[in-house]
Amino acid sequence: GCPVPHDGASRALLGRTNRDWWPEMLAVDILQPNGPANPLGADFDYAEAFNALDYNALKADLHALMTDSQPWWPADYGHYGPFFIRMAWHAAGTYRTGDGRGGANSGQQRFAPLDSWPDNGNLDKARRLLWPIKQKYGANISWADLFILAGNVAIESMGGPVFGFGGGRADVFEPEKDIYWGTEDQWVNEGVQTRLDPTKEMNDIDGPLAAIQMGLIYVNPEGPGGNPHDDAGMARDLRETFRRMAMDDEEIVALTAGGHTFGKAHGNGDASLLGAAPAGGDLAAQGFGWVSSHESGGIGEHTVTSGIEGSWTNVPNKWTHNYFRLLLDYDYELVKSPAGAHQWQPINQKPEDMAPAAWDASIKVPTMMTTADMAMKRDPGFRAISERFRNDHAAFEDAFARAWFKLTHRDMGPKIRYLGPEVPAEDLIWQDPVPAGTMPSDALVTQVKAKIRASGLTVSQLVKVAWASASTYRKSDHRGGANGARIALAPQKDWDVNEPALLAKVIGTLDALRGEMSLADAIVLGGVVGLEMAGAGDVPFTGGRGDATQEQTDVESFDWLEPEADAFRNYMPKKLRIKTEEAMLDRAALLGLSVPEMTVLVGGLRVLGANHGERGHGHFTHRSGQLTNDYFVNLLAMTNVWKAVDGSDDEEYVATDRKSGGEVWRATRADLVFGSNAELRAVAEVYAQKGGEEKFKADFVKAWTKVMNADRFDLTYAKYHA
Ligand code: HEM
Repeated sequence: GCPVPHDGASRALLGRTNRDWWPEMLAVDILQPNGPANPLGADFDYAEAFNALDYNALKADLHALMTDSQPWWPADYGHYGPFFIRMAWHAAGTYRTGDGRGGANSGQQRFAPLDSWPDNGNLDKARRLLWPIKQKYGANISWADLFILAGNVAIESMGGPVFGFGGGRADVFEPEKDIYWGTEDQWVNEGVQTRLDPTKEMNDIDGPLAAIQMGLIYVNPEGPGGNPHDDAGMARDLRETFRRMAMDDEEIVALTAGGHTFGKAHGNGDASLLGAAPAGGDLAAQGFGWVSSHESGGIGEHTVTSGIEGSWTNVPNKWTHNYFRLLLDYDYELVKSPAGAHQWQPINQKPEDMAPAAWDASIKVPTMMTTADMAMKRDPGFRAISERFRNDHAAFEDAFARAWFKLTHRDMGPKIRYLGPEVPAEDLIWQDPVPAGTMPSDALVTQVKAKIRASGLTVSQLVKVAWASASTYRKSDHRGGANGARIALAPQKDWDVNEPALLAKVIGTLDALRGEMSLADAIVLGGVVGLEMAGAGDVPFTGGRGDATQEQTDVESFDWLEPEADAFRNYMPKKLRIKTEEAMLDRAALLGLSVPEMTVLVGGLRVLGANHGERGHGHFTHRSGQLTNDYFVNLLAMTNVWKAVDGSDDEEYVATDRKSGGEVWRATRADLVFGSNAELRAVAEVYAQKGGEEKFKADFVKAWTKVMNADRFDLTYAKYHA
């Protein structure tokens, strides 16, 4: 479960980007230096706006929309519910545990590349159907929330089980720039290029990715690489991709069966009649893609989306238990849809088990299963679950409702971030619950600080442990961070990057002296004391963190947070597929750091002695443990000349004095990039120049404090629950 790939060929951090796919895309972002893309402004508080929403009125409007069929995109079976469920599932389903990116929490489905992924075909119409409602409720409901709420209302409207809804996903107004979607230069429908095929050279899904082919949410519905006969491969693809979204076998079966209880696949025509995806679409199409030159303009009866054709059940606009019945009771034969896609059809289907045609209820058509659905019957593990759910409807409903809630809320972070009247009371393990903490009194803080100072723990030890505790935070899914003190629990206490023996000693010492203070606070306060001992001046501290228990910690799901490398601690135990400095940038992006913040933190952590183990690389100071700008001064000194260390594969470098030729410093790529990259060098110069030392200290303390408090939603969100 590593977040960064570690074998195979190297690759660029961002792989293939929007501009690679659509070179002619309008470069709207050239205006960004003039101000942010978000028109709502820095003062806009979405949580406050959401709390002011007339939630019940919005839900009533969504319910009405479900059956308000529009001539430009008629509702199958007179109900848009299935379409909105697919939209919500595809919005949430891009989430991946590897780096916490993707998911529904910022409304990214509106932007490239997601708006144009083959798997998101025709969801542009689903989003546009929502526009009148979005327009009516304005800034009180984000697109991101609306996508998920529409999915929930769709399920309710068709009689399905729903576990709850939490609002609070604030929209962004531009495509995410920091996310890696893969390197392939062909979409799933253009070439095979499966990412998990033992017969292929690359048989491990790369890094954080969770889909099996470029442009898919998860797996290829027609089978691995389009092969409908590879049962073992289909089950493997499902397990591997869903695992990468933290879903187990039961959740795979519940979600797939529950989802495909509704709606249909669209392939009643020739897929080559579809035009370009939205990002490459015609101006006159106004954001629509896949404009069809099929009969009737490719709507209703003539819609082509995936190319597969037909519904899974005989009552596709109602919640029923027919999916498992039809799947398990019939034998199936392989057929081809009118668009030429592989799909499975029940043999000798009884007329009463056939479905109405989506566009005319008087016509009866056979139901179908995709190859992915057939795995729910053909794989022994999935089959056992399918049979149990087939016989125990209550268990199926509960499993579907919970898995849907997890799917659609998995990237929202701590539960306190969920807003609105339908947030379930029950705490769920994947929410990484942390018991509420108590704000320590000033007297207690002073007392504990004095004890830490007298404990014999060094600056390096205190800084290392506080950093290790807080720096797991990732703004992508708001997981990790210092709150909960999970650094003291499995798996984090055993991570090599955290130096387990040293960690145990420091935590043991802090635990013994903290009194009434939580361990999580004591660890952060230890960092504060460390910095003050290092001459940082007064370092701010905000207490009130709680301590989680081992039972509240899903070890497997925290495994995904383990850094395989950490440039901030100069920890690089093995060569990654991305460059060391790219891994640093990626981590800084997840921590929510700016360029100066990343720069000042690396420089400061080096001189404080925060490197992993005894590693001296980048320790450009003779005043170890003091917060000075020596790192930048020495890095930029022209008296030295740098050279790669032989045999280090360009990972280690040595500086020698130009005159004497003697060795002066050692460094890694993560150090030297601050001298070699023009933009990073420009920032490093500010910290090395006259006046730089004071600025360096102030900026370091600010950036450090930002990381320590990055996960304090317990403080920032309390007011929304008042
Ligand atoms: C539709 C594949 C999982 C809900 C479809 C379609 C395909 C597909 C090929 C047809 C799209 C079209 O042509 O219009 C898959 C695969 C899955 C998967 C391979 C992975 C196992 C899910 C999940 C859900 C879901 C987890 C929700 C919980 C739906 C719904 C539709 C649909 C409601 C019907 C949309 C409509 O009627 O317009 N899926 N799906 N699917 N899927 Fe899935």
